[in-house]
Amino acid sequence: MARNHPNNKTPERVSAQPRFHQHAAEIQAYGTVSHLLPLDLEEPVRLEMTAQLNQLLADTMTLRDLYKKSHWQAAGPTFYQLHLLFDKHSNEQVELVDSIAERIQLLGGVSIAMAPDVAETTRIGRPPRGRERFPFSCHAS
Ligand SMILES: [Fe+2]
Repeated sequence: MARNHPNNKTPERVSAQPRFHQHAAEIQAYGTVSHLLPLDLEEPVRLEMTAQLNQLLADTMTLRDLYKKSHWQAAGPTFYQLHLLFDKHSNEQVELVDSIAERIQLLGGVSIAMAPDVAETTRIGRPPRGRERFPFSCHAS
């Protein structure tokens, strides 16, 4: 037996499936600052700070991804130690990324977020897609 909905209309079906192809209107352009939060910093200062922090954010996100790549692709007799070490460094970068991004937002800016934007912005060179030889080797003496 169907339950009665409070307004006597058929309740909307709820689905757990993601809704693809949704687009929200942009409410603040990248590279601008809003004045929603009461800060004593003038707009030119906020613009300069958010620009520099976004550069740092893109580089930190790239470093995070490089550590994760190394975490996954480590090999050899010290695999397990390197695997753990690179994961630890990656997790530390994750925390830095969050702190930097939230600082940008608190300054009224827009944090860079998406991988293509990070790739266009970072100063760190792109590594090969394939597995790389580690630049150091650990030899037991
Ligand atoms: Fe892992």
